[in-house]
Amino acid sequence: MIRAQIRGSGSALPKQCVTNADLADRVDTSDEWIVERTGIRQRYIAGEGETTSTLATEAARKALDAAGMDPSSIDLIVLATATPDNTFPAVATQVQRALGCRGGIAFDVQAVCTGFLYALGTADSMIRTGMAKRALVIGAETFSRILDWEDRTTCVLFGDGAGAIVLEAEDVAEDGPGIMATKLRADGEHKDLLYVDGGPSTTGTVGKLRMKGREVFRHAVVNLAEVLGETLDAVGLVAEDIDWVVPHQANARILDATARKLGLPPEKVIVTVDRHANTSAASVPLAFDAGVRDGRIKPGDLVVFEAMGGGFTWGASLARL
Ligand code: UT7
Repeated sequence: MIRAQIRGSGSALPKQCVTNADLADRVDTSDEWIVERTGIRQRYIAGEGETTSTLATEAARKALDAAGMDPSSIDLIVLATATPDNTFPAVATQVQRALGCRGGIAFDVQAVCTGFLYALGTADSMIRTGMAKRALVIGAETFSRILDWEDRTTCVLFGDGAGAIVLEAEDVAEDGPGIMATKLRADGEHKDLLYVDGGPSTTGTVGKLRMKGREVFRHAVVNLAEVLGETLDAVGLVAEDIDWVVPHQANARILDATARKLGLPPEKVIVTVDRHANTSAASVPLAFDAGVRDGRIKPGDLVVFEAMGGGFTWGASLARL
C-alpha cells in the first residue's frame, strides 16, 4: 500500500525573543502568573521583514536539507496558517516561489491551532490517492500581529514561528512505516470562545484575537483525549505503544492533563511551550523538529501528533517513522 513517509523536518523562529519579564513591563502581569498558569517562559516575536511566508520558507528549506531533497522534486505544498501575509494569494504559493519549485500544487488550509493536523491529513490523502509524490507540509504563523497587546489574558500566551516536514510516497506492507491514521474533527458551535473580531468579509480589517481561555481549556482536555483514543483504535494500537506525543503547545497544564487521561508518563511528551509559547499551527511541527534534532525522536518510533484550536477544530495523527 502507498503510505506517506516523513523524510525530514525543519523549523524557524523570529530573531527577537521576548521574556515574561519583558511583557510585565507592558501589561499588568508577572513571570510567576504566566509560568504557573501556562508553563510559558518566553516567546519569539516577528520583527520588520519577518512574515509568515519568510518563516515558512526558512523552515521548508531546513526540512528539505534534512531530507536531502531538491525543492524542484516537490509537487505539493500544503501550508496551515491563520495569519497569512495577505488575504490572498495563499502563503503556500509564495513559499513555492521562494523555493523555486513552480508548477506543482500549492494551497493554504485554515484550522487555526489544528491547522497542521488538517494540512497533514490533506497531504497524506493526496499522496495515498496518487495526486502527489513529494509534499511539504508546513505550519506557519505570526500571531503577534493579531494580538491585542493591551489584553493581558491573551497577549502573554502566543508567539510566532514555523515548522515543516517533507512527506514522500512509498509502497510499504500494511504494518510498514508512514502516516498510519489521522482523525480530524470540528464543532462550529463554539466560535465565541476563540475567534478574531475582524476579517475581509465583515469589518474589512484584520481584527484581534479574543478568547475565553478557561472554557477553551475544558474542551481541549476532553476533545484531545477522545480523538487520540479514536486514532489509536483505528489501527488497533494502545497508548502504551506510543513512543512520543507531539502535542499542540498551548498550555503545559493541558499537556499534563491529556497525558494523565491517556495514562502516558510526562517523559513521553515533547514540550516546547516554555520556549515558544503557543504558535498556533506552527507549534506541532516546531515541537516535532525540536524532538528530532535533540535526538529523542528516532527512526522506527511511533509518534502521535495532536492539536485543538479555534472553530473548534481538533485532531490527531499517528505515524511510524
Ligand atoms: O491554542 C488554542 C487553544 N487555546 C488554549 O488551549 C488555551 C486554553 N486556556 C488556557 O490555557 C488557560 O485558560 C489560560 C492560560 C488562558 C488562563 O488560565 P486560567 O487558569 O484559566 O485563568 P483564568 O482565565 O481563569 O484567570 C484567572 C485570573 C483572573 O483574575 P480573577 O478574575 O480571578 O481576579 C484573570 O483576570 O487570572 C487573571 N489573569 C492574569 N493575571 C496576571 C488573566 N491573565 C493574566 C495575566 N497575568 N496575564
